[in-house]
Amino acid sequence: MKIAVIGTGYVGLVTGVTLSEIGHQVTCVDVDKEKVNTLNKGVSPIYEEGLTELLEKNLERGTLTFTADYDEGMLGKDIIYLTVGTPQGKDGSADLTYIDKACDSIAASLQQNAIIVTKSTVPVGTNSYIKSRFEEKLSSNIKVKIVSNPEFLRQGSAVYDTFNGDRIVIGSDNTEALETIAEVNAPFNLPIVKTDLRSAEMIKYAANAFLATKISFINEIANLSEQVGANVDLVADGIGMDKRIGRAFLNAGAGFGGSCFPKDTNALISIGKEVDYTMPLLESVIKVNDKQRSIIADKVIANYADLSGKKIAVLGLAFKPNTDDMRDAPSIQITERLIEQGANLYAYDPVAIENAKKVLSGQVEYCSNIESALQNADMAIILTEWQEIKDFPLSAYKQYMKKPVLFDGRNCFTIEQINGSGIEYHSIGRPVEKAN
Ligand code: UDX
Repeated sequence: MKIAVIGTGYVGLVTGVTLSEIGHQVTCVDVDKEKVNTLNKGVSPIYEEGLTELLEKNLERGTLTFTADYDEGMLGKDIIYLTVGTPQGKDGSADLTYIDKACDSIAASLQQNAIIVTKSTVPVGTNSYIKSRFEEKLSSNIKVKIVSNPEFLRQGSAVYDTFNGDRIVIGSDNTEALETIAEVNAPFNLPIVKTDLRSAEMIKYAANAFLATKISFINEIANLSEQVGANVDLVADGIGMDKRIGRAFLNAGAGFGGSCFPKDTNALISIGKEVDYTMPLLESVIKVNDKQRSIIADKVIANYADLSGKKIAVLGLAFKPNTDDMRDAPSIQITERLIEQGANLYAYDPVAIENAKKVLSGQVEYCSNIESALQNADMAIILTEWQEIKDFPLSAYKQYMKKPVLFDGRNCFTIEQINGSGIEYHSIGRPVEKAN
């Protein structure tokens, strides 16, 4: 199939590259000329495991190309994927400006009938709106059919997820278009769920909202466990073995962040408001998460009468491991609070430092490794569970720090590992371990 993909952000780039990998002829369109030039040279602007290899391979064999020119991008394409961003607007709803712009640019260049596939996360009903926008802008001899094909990719493992996802959701009110997109996706060899347009749109929001709910649920249980002397990791294992519950997404920590969970749970509440339906459960999920983000800072503050001049090593800044993404990362609020208290922060992250510099206060010193962040520190806090941080020997905390006090916002170590390490250890939903 000849496919165009509009937008080369996380979703667009992964979509374009993987569709070319399974044998389609793909042209990715992006208005950013510089980005297009870089991509045509095989350089990915984002850090995503396995992406560069597939990008280089498919550029070389001629199944993938990038352009900033819509006329070129639309030329002879049967299928056009919309993968532009839908950021959170001021009122919490999804901002559709980029969708509108992309639709109008497609309509201005399209010379043949095509299927429009929306991968961007859009409020329920948006695909019907997209259809009417095209009908308004296209000349009467050109027709488009609309399909919703939400993505469930996790940053950091987006390429893996594309080939190993649990399911592919395809929704359309046009059976022929639905079957064509099912065929396009057949080489991925994953179960396909076929729905109507609106149900597909809802599936995306409901999936993210449910996972966010699981996280806030376990964080609430964690905070109570701490008060009553239970260990939340054991509780999560104990309830997670019940197949109806499942162990995934029950890791207590510093709260969820990233470009999806915070934005999509807010957007779903906004969708409800539009039809006068309030969603108290999801409102609480967000409230619990906001509070959870401050818990590590609260613990630090509660343990020191005065933080001014104290050196704090911050290990991990990205909103989760294996990504350089800082969007909505809990590290933003936590570092801000500690700086307000007069602490001196020395931060290390394997890949997110350049992005962190753009969003964290200027008062953070950036370190090139864990050792230099820990050097002479009064305490350390872990905010991202990078493997490198989990593998760093506990004995080294004692070696480098002024005092080995560790606040672990991601429960990277078991209590057994900490016992006897000589580290004072504060974590989430588990008893405090005094240095011994
Ligand atoms: C998520 C969804 O998983 C994906 O399907 C969707 O398409 C986009 O949103 P992503 O944001 O990349 O993906 O990351 P994910 O691995 O889901 O983690 C999201 C946040 O939840 C992170 O901040 C992570 O630290 C946090 N989290 C996750 C927890 O706090 N505990 C958990 O048990 C799991």
